[in-house]
Parts: sequence; structure tokens; C-alpha cells
Amino acid sequence: MDKSYLMAPGPVTVDPEVLAEMSRPVIHHRSPEFSAILTEVREGLKYLYQTRNDVLILASSGTGGMEASVVNLLSPGDKAIVVRGGKFGERWSELCNAYKVEAINLEVTWGEAVDPQEVKKALDDNPDVKAVFVQAHETSTGVKHPVRELGIMLKERPNTVLVVDAISALGVYELKTDDWGLDVVVTGSQKALSLPPGLAFVSVSEKAWKFAQEARLPRYYFDFLRERKAIARQTTAFTPAVSLIIGLREVLNKIIKTGLPALYAHHRRLSEATKAGITAMGLELFSKAPSESVTAVKAPEGIDAQDVVKLLREEYGITIAGGQAQARGKIFRISHMGYLDEWDMLIALAALERVLNRLGYPVEPGKGVAAAEAYLVQN
Ligand SMILES: Cc1ncc(COP(=O)(O)O)c(C=O)c1O
Repeated sequence: MDKSYLMAPGPVTVDPEVLAEMSRPVIHHRSPEFSAILTEVREGLKYLYQTRNDVLILASSGTGGMEASVVNLLSPGDKAIVVRGGKFGERWSELCNAYKVEAINLEVTWGEAVDPQEVKKALDDNPDVKAVFVQAHETSTGVKHPVRELGIMLKERPNTVLVVDAISALGVYELKTDDWGLDVVVTGSQKALSLPPGLAFVSVSEKAWKFAQEARLPRYYFDFLRERKAIARQTTAFTPAVSLIIGLREVLNKIIKTGLPALYAHHRRLSEATKAGITAMGLELFSKAPSESVTAVKAPEGIDAQDVVKLLREEYGITIAGGQAQARGKIFRISHMGYLDEWDMLIALAALERVLNRLGYPVEPGKGVAAAEAYLVQN
């Protein structure tokens, strides 16, 4: 049997009911029917984001949302603080470089979270900084950065916006866009929203809208002001990804029915059970500030993490992710996002035990599974 399991941190497994919704005939995007869908979806996004502001929907992967944030908030020569503790933090600086924004890079050891005091110091040293770019969850390391603390800090600074890449965080665990003062929050469809790839979402605070009025970086397709005008007319500036948005409506309706607290509890449960299993196998977590989105695990001494990933995929049909860049070969990552349940986690752990044994790291069969199961039964 060639049954397969997608447990990588994006793209993720999609709920078959959502897939069925998306297979309906494509409708025209300038129609009352689609406008009604858009209006419904926009309300759902506000609930997910915990915001009163508009959430823009862009036809792109998550990086498009990141690029859109840079070009809509800043002007050439502006300064920005970038928290760089992984592959995606580095992406913020690459975007700044591409657009001639001066990036002040705060280097954070991979596997660790940024210290808010370091950000405060960089802000105090550079009072003319226009933006702070950070990840809510750095997917490449499995680290949660303290965006709540950063938001509270930046609420006091009217000339600086906080831009949060929440691509693998929003919908996984609590993130209060408005209450925490997160000015711009970016996410993508193929992570916690459990949709196929292809949509990016960006919320924009009132403070950030003022920046958007003044920003002078070049832009065309990703123009927040143009998109905002379209929202006022219950439409989109360009042809939207119609089928994905129809799928999104289904996803958001399910999230509203479940409620955010239960959604977060679900991810916590899968994550905690997996982490219990991993530790019981004698393995070590890579992240010092672990998230509910993924479990990032250090490969045992002498074992290449890429071999773990390869064997799981080729022999057992389970796709997880390896490490990226400097973490390649050293870590592997199991996702808790997407249409997954506790049984899927037990399958992943059982297969991992076999793979590790085959690679020469002895694990008593069932050891990790038993620990995960014990957690699940007790919680
Ligand atoms: C935190 C984070 N930022 C950015 C991205 C890039 O998103 P995309 O590949 O959708 O462009 C990812 C994708 O894994 C991510 O996890």
C-alpha cells in the first residue's frame, strides 16, 4: 500500500472536506456570489487574527506577504531591525537588501529566542528605525520569539512598526494582533490554515496604514492601498485565487465552530505528546523556546538527520522536514499543523523508532510511542 502522511511544516495535509469544496466549479470573481464569499472570509480572518482591522488576501506564497510588507511600509534608505535566528529571519534581511533598506541585523543563535532587551537596546541605539522584522515562530529552528513583549514595547514608539511573520504561528497558538500591538502580521495558506499553498494574508494596523501612505519603495502588484480600496468595494484588486478562497471559507467556518481556544489546545496536545515521545527515546529538542507548530529534534550523534527524513519518506511514506542551511543534517522537524490528529503523531513516532534503529541508534520499540500515549491518555 502506498499510503502517505504529510507531516512537514508546510505544505500540510488538507482536510478532504476542504478539498471537496475547492473542487466545485470555478465562479467569476466579479460576481455577487463571490463578493459574498469574500465578505464572509474577511470576517473569519478578523476572528483568526483577533483584529478589528482589514486582513489583505494576496495570491502568493507567504514570502509574497513578507515582500509586500517591506515595500508598503518603507522608503529607500530607511533603517529596520531584523531578528535573525534562522532561515526566515535571514529572509527579512534579504528582502531589506533587495529594496535598499538598511537592515540592522540582530544575530540570534539558531535554536534560541531573541531577548526583548536586545531589541530594546537596538531601538535605543537607533531611534530612527522605522520597522522591526521578526518571526512569531522561526520554522527552521522551531523557536517561538517573544512577539507579545515586542508588541508592547513598540506600542510606545509611534515612529516604528512591528512586522511579524506568523506564517507558521497564526492559528497554531495564541497571537493577539490588536491587543499585543502587532502592526503587520503575515501568514500563508499552507501551514496552520491547512490549505494548499498559494495565499498570503497580511493584517495592517492603523499605525501601519499611516506608514503605507508615506512609503516610497516601488510596488505594483502588492499595493496595500490599492487592495484596501478594493476591499471597500467587496472585491479584490486583481483576479483572486478563487478556489483557494472558497476552500478558505470552509476552513474558517470550521475554525469558528471549533473556537480558537480549542484549536490551540489541539496543537498543544499533538506537540506535547510528540515531545514526550521524542524525549523518551533519549533524543533532544533543538529549540530552547519550543513551539506547538513543529517539534525540532537534534539527530543523535553520528546520524545524519537527512537519512532519517529520507528513510521515513521512502520506506514508510511519512514526509517530515530536515534542517535548513546550517541546521541541515543536524536536525529533523515533525509538524503539528494541518489535518493531523493524535494517531498520526503516534504513527510518526513508531516509524521514527524503526528508522533510528535501522540507522544504528538503539530505541526499544514502543518506547517513544508509550510516552506519547501516556501523555495523551492523561491529558
Ligand atoms: C516562518 C516562515 N516564514 C516564511 C516562510 C516562507 O513562506 P513561503 O514558502 O510560503 O513563501 C515560511 C515557510 O516555510 C515560514 O515557515
